[in-house]
Amino acid sequence: MPKVSKRGQNILSSPIRKFLPLMLKAEIEGVKVFKLNVGDPDIAIPPQLLPAIKKYKNKSLGYAPSPGISEHVAAWLKYYGDFGVKLKPENLIPTVGGAEAILLAILATTDPGDEIIVFEPLYASYKGFAAMASVKLVPITLKIENNFALPPAKDIIKKISRKTKAIVLINPDNPTGAVRTRAEINRLVKIARGHNLFIITDETYREIVFFGQPGSVLQVPAAKNCTILVDSVSKRFSCPGARIGVIVSYNQVLMSAVLKFAMVRLSAPTLEQIGLIPILKNARAYTKKITREYKKRRDLVFTALTKIPGVKCQKPNGAFYIIAGLPVKNSEDFVKFLLTKFRYQNQTLMLTPAQDFYVTPGLGKNEVRLAYVLNTQSLKQAMLILKKALEAYKNR
Ligand SMILES: Cc1ncc(COP(=O)(O)O)c(C=O)c1O
Repeated sequence: MPKVSKRGQNILSSPIRKFLPLMLKAEIEGVKVFKLNVGDPDIAIPPQLLPAIKKYKNKSLGYAPSPGISEHVAAWLKYYGDFGVKLKPENLIPTVGGAEAILLAILATTDPGDEIIVFEPLYASYKGFAAMASVKLVPITLKIENNFALPPAKDIIKKISRKTKAIVLINPDNPTGAVRTRAEINRLVKIARGHNLFIITDETYREIVFFGQPGSVLQVPAAKNCTILVDSVSKRFSCPGARIGVIVSYNQVLMSAVLKFAMVRLSAPTLEQIGLIPILKNARAYTKKITREYKKRRDLVFTALTKIPGVKCQKPNGAFYIIAGLPVKNSEDFVKFLLTKFRYQNQTLMLTPAQDFYVTPGLGKNEVRLAYVLNTQSLKQAMLILKKALEAYKNR
């Protein structure tokens, strides 16, 4: 028998997809499952998107150019210009979602065996992409009690080795909902410059911040040459199915490597690049509206969680996630219990156990991540179910 690669054998299955068969079984049995497990927004897409796609009148559907459709690239330049980030077309390449931008950023900054510093818990795809690229993630653990604040510079510098090539910053953060302060960003930029490292800044949730103004690491002049920005339309325009992201850098040596990678994979989707042009040029009204909605949900979920005995959490300042420490020993077992045993009014919940958001084995065992991607009425019911389920789990 031919053998599957070590990479293929060792890569973790997505924490989000692991419990899917149990959830489907519950649904087949007629149970209503409130899904707080995936960051798949329930909100309607911007009204400009589909009409713009419908204007496409060519008889064939060709590849887009590898560096992106020029009007689409121009729309991104306008979008970033609205944040005071002045870019030229050569600073930016559309990708197949933010996911591909992460992969290209890793491939352009590392060779096999190199290291990247990350803050854990972190968006689990970084672990998967690092495994695909044979790169080691070196974690710095952030604590729920500390509201997932970044540590002092000396604790970050301690993790830098001769093999370190980059530091990842996800801001606003998935899975913690943390939003970085200007001081935290300046600290990272100073470290990166001092040690010749890249910053891979993932700003997929840029506008979803509940106080202060949305921004970018690229606004920091000192960050210009060492920063690679990973971005996406998935969350800010509620359209993860469009599969459009972007990779951005002022560093032209880096961007010429990224362009070569982009040519290998041919192009990002054509129709979606076209469809997104109007909303990219005029994003604020839509992103303000959805942020107001997520803030309402954040307040509801956070208040409800703080009232459940034994639950530990901190108020997230952005994105649409919250990490909760539960009064359980093993949150994977609790999630299994929810899907297979617990029913309240023939309803249950799907949450994501947090273990797989950590790089360090054994951490986050009693934690779950909740994505508040349901309307407030559903969230209210979901929080009641969680309270009842924790009582039943304790008394089982
Ligand atoms: C922090 C972060 N980056 C990137 C992505 C990838 O987004 P997409 O590939 O849908 O653009 C996600 C998706 O959840 C995310 O949470």
